[in-house]
Amino acid sequence: MPETIMEAYIRKNPKSAELYPKFQELFPSGGAGHDGYVASPFPISIARGQGPRKWDVDGNEYIDFGLGSASLLLGHSHPAVVDALTKAAPLGSHFGAPVESMLEWGERVHNLIPCADKVRFVASGAESTMLSMRIARAYTGKEKIIRWESHYHGWHDYAMPGNLPPFDSPASIGIPQGAVDSVVVLPPDLDSLERTLAADNNIAGVITEGSGASYGTVPLSPGFLEGVRRLTRQYNVLMILDEVITGFRWSPGGLQQRIGIDPDLCTLAKILTGGLPGGAVAGRDDIMQVMVQTGDRQHDRHQRVLHGGTFNANPYCAATGNAALEIVASGEMQDTADRMADRLRVGLQEILDRSEVAACVYGDASTFHVYFGNRSIEGMDANTLKNAPPAIQTAFRQALQVRGVDLMSRTSGVLSGVHTEDDIDTALGAFDGAIQAMLEEGIAS
Ligand SMILES: Cc1ncc(COP(=O)(O)O)c(C=O)c1O
Repeated sequence: MPETIMEAYIRKNPKSAELYPKFQELFPSGGAGHDGYVASPFPISIARGQGPRKWDVDGNEYIDFGLGSASLLLGHSHPAVVDALTKAAPLGSHFGAPVESMLEWGERVHNLIPCADKVRFVASGAESTMLSMRIARAYTGKEKIIRWESHYHGWHDYAMPGNLPPFDSPASIGIPQGAVDSVVVLPPDLDSLERTLAADNNIAGVITEGSGASYGTVPLSPGFLEGVRRLTRQYNVLMILDEVITGFRWSPGGLQQRIGIDPDLCTLAKILTGGLPGGAVAGRDDIMQVMVQTGDRQHDRHQRVLHGGTFNANPYCAATGNAALEIVASGEMQDTADRMADRLRVGLQEILDRSEVAACVYGDASTFHVYFGNRSIEGMDANTLKNAPPAIQTAFRQALQVRGVDLMSRTSGVLSGVHTEDDIDTALGAFDGAIQAMLEEGIAS
């Protein structure tokens, strides 16, 4: 009997298998620090990364299409980012006071992101969407936020309603009903949006993952974002573009620059810091003024948005953020990443066609997604596209891992500006092997 995908995975990862019970003993949820990192029968523990590659604790090497959950457009341990961090490290990590590197960082965001009249740094992507919602409510004096089924905006209470099917039940327990009631979850269609805006005058803003849910796993229809912009203007509510993934990746100025759309607020993280913890809300001057402290006690206590956060814009993240944004500003990293993603999508589709597997590859900019079950995703919604059978998702990821390739989540991945054509061609060999192994085991057909 030939070795199965799972048997090969277990054989190649003895140290990860040995560590797993220790992780489990100490940490809830499968020993992972993030629900997305849970894997069966155990996740692979990673030791280090360099450029487009990473190595696990057993010494196995991977061409990485996960890239720090899409935060590493420059690849792992980019020398400029490492150098910035090394220089900043001995100077101190936190002063509870402005540092000049923050000023430079804010200017870079302001210069790159079209809607960024003003910038406020936070400590994560989730914090950026949470703060953007508070700003929208404060500015409009309205309470509710409209969001789209299955779009991901982080893990906080206001981001959980509508994140997972069934969309009328929050993605997590522990969410107060008050938070659920303040979020309106809609399928991504403009008629639903217009009907809701016309019927409910308590809407503060509409938040959208501009790529479509989960970095484009569920693409939006052409013209959708333009329609959201038109209707939000017409009904005087704010358009919040969640650019936590698309920011600096779709173009130096994010998705908003690439397609020429003008949101009122946007949220940023990941590439913003060169891959360290951090995020930001950026937006129109008059809106961001809701955060201003005037010194007037009545105003400052009752008429402004309060915001704290010990590690916001700390000197280490400002240093790595500056190093990363200096490089991404030219657009070369994005061009390379897009070209490599295109090469990967085309090559992988050829493999699927040649192998006569009912599956297809799609994706925008520097992303790719594989859907098993049909040769096209035309007309498919989030329920279908994000719910491939777990056995297929697990087998695909593991079959790739044992062949030296790793993905970001489910059956999707992202590219960097340091992947080369050779990396892609090597990876395509692994994709081919993985598909054949899945066919042999009857997991794909
Ligand atoms: C579109 C989007 N928004 C928000 C977040 C939350 O960011 P973080 O994980 O930094 O809190 C993510 C994370 O992947 C994301 O993809």
